[in-house]
Amino acid sequence: METQVGIVGAGPAGLLLAHLLQRAGIESVVLEARTREYVEHRVRAGVLEHGTVEVLKETGVGERLEREGMLHHGVELRFGGTGHRIDFSALAGGRAITVYGQQEVVKDLIAARLQSGGALHFEAEVTSIDPERGVIRFGDEELRCAVIAGCDGFHGVCREAVQDRLRIYERVYPFAWLGILAHAAPSSEELIYTHSDRGFALHSMRSPEVTRNYLQVPPDEDVGEWSDERIWEELQQRMATVDGDFILQEGEIFEKGVTPMRSFVAEPLRHGKLFLAGDAAHIVPPTGAKGLNLAVADIRVLARGLRSYCKDGDGTRLDEYSDRCLRRVWRVQHFSWWMTSMLHRFEGDAFEAKLQRSQLEYVVRSHAAATTLAENYVGLDLEDV
Ligand code: DHB
Repeated sequence: METQVGIVGAGPAGLLLAHLLQRAGIESVVLEARTREYVEHRVRAGVLEHGTVEVLKETGVGERLEREGMLHHGVELRFGGTGHRIDFSALAGGRAITVYGQQEVVKDLIAARLQSGGALHFEAEVTSIDPERGVIRFGDEELRCAVIAGCDGFHGVCREAVQDRLRIYERVYPFAWLGILAHAAPSSEELIYTHSDRGFALHSMRSPEVTRNYLQVPPDEDVGEWSDERIWEELQQRMATVDGDFILQEGEIFEKGVTPMRSFVAEPLRHGKLFLAGDAAHIVPPTGAKGLNLAVADIRVLARGLRSYCKDGDGTRLDEYSDRCLRRVWRVQHFSWWMTSMLHRFEGDAFEAKLQRSQLEYVVRSHAAATTLAENYVGLDLEDV
C-alpha cells in the first residue's frame, strides 16, 4: 500500500489532519488501533477555543457544533466561598469559548471522513514505523508514505519509535481528577473553577440536561472508592458559597473516570518523515482544557506545511513545523501549569495555599492579570505565540 500521508491514530488530531488534507486534494490513510465505537465514546474535555471552532466551521464540520455547542463569554473563579467572573468579552477582544464534548468533534470528523470516501481503518493496530523510510507496519501490511503523522496519543508507537532521539520535559502532579457526567441541569450558566480547603472542584456541562463535574483526588485513586453519594457530597462541600446561594443540581451519574495529571513535552516534533502531533508529542494537565485545542493548533501548522510540500514541492514550512508548534506548546504548557498550580490543594503546604489565595485575589482584581487568564483561556492567535 502507498499513500502521501500515513496518519497513525483517529483521535481529533489524526481525523482533523485527514480532513484538512482531503480538502486540499492530498491523499492520506488513517490507521486506528481501536474500534469506531471506542473512539466515538472516549470521554474527554469539552472546551473549544475560538480558533478551534473557526477551523471546524470554516472547513465544513461545524454544523452540529454551531447548533449544539454552548457559547460562553466568561468563567467563574470561586475561592473562599465567593465567586468572581472573568469576562472574556471585555478582556479578550470579544472572543468566547464553546462548550462541546471532544467526542462530539470526533464523531463529526469521522462522519466527514467517511462521507468523503477517504481511507479510515479501525482496529488497524500499527506495530512499528520507520521514520526514515516512511513505512508504517500494521497487521501483515506495509503502508509506504511520503510523510507519517504520529497522532497516536501519549501511549502510541510513533513517539516510542524515536524515543532515543528525544529530549523529554516532564512534571507529574501529586493529584488526579475524578470526572463525572450526570443527568442534571447545569447549576450555573458558565464554568466554575473552585479553589477550596478540601481541594479543587470544577463544574462544567455538556448540554442543558447534562453536567460534567470534576474533583481533585489523590493520584491513582480507585473510582470504586467513590459512590455517587460521596461524589455529590464532596462537590457540594467544595463548591458551597458563604452566602449559601449556590445550589448544585444533582442527578444520575452515568460516567465516572480518573484522569492523571502531568505536563509533558517531547522535543523535537519532527524526525525524518515522522511528524508528532497532539498527545503523542505533549500532554497538558486538564485545568483549562487545552489538550484538544493544542492538538488542533499542531495540525493546522502541519496541514499548511504539507500543502506547500505536496502541491509546490516546498519543504520550508515542514522544516519549521517543530519550532513553530513548540512556541505555542510552551505557552500553553505554562498556562495549564499555572491554572493547575493556582487551583489545587497541595497536601501539607500552607505556604503554597497562601500564595494561591494571593494570586487568585490578584487575578480577579487586576485588569492585567484577568486579561492574562482570559486571553490564554480563549486561545491566543497562532501568529501571536
Ligand atoms: C472541562 C474540562 C476541563 O479540563 C476544563 O478545564 C474545563 C471544562 C470539561 O470537560 O467540560
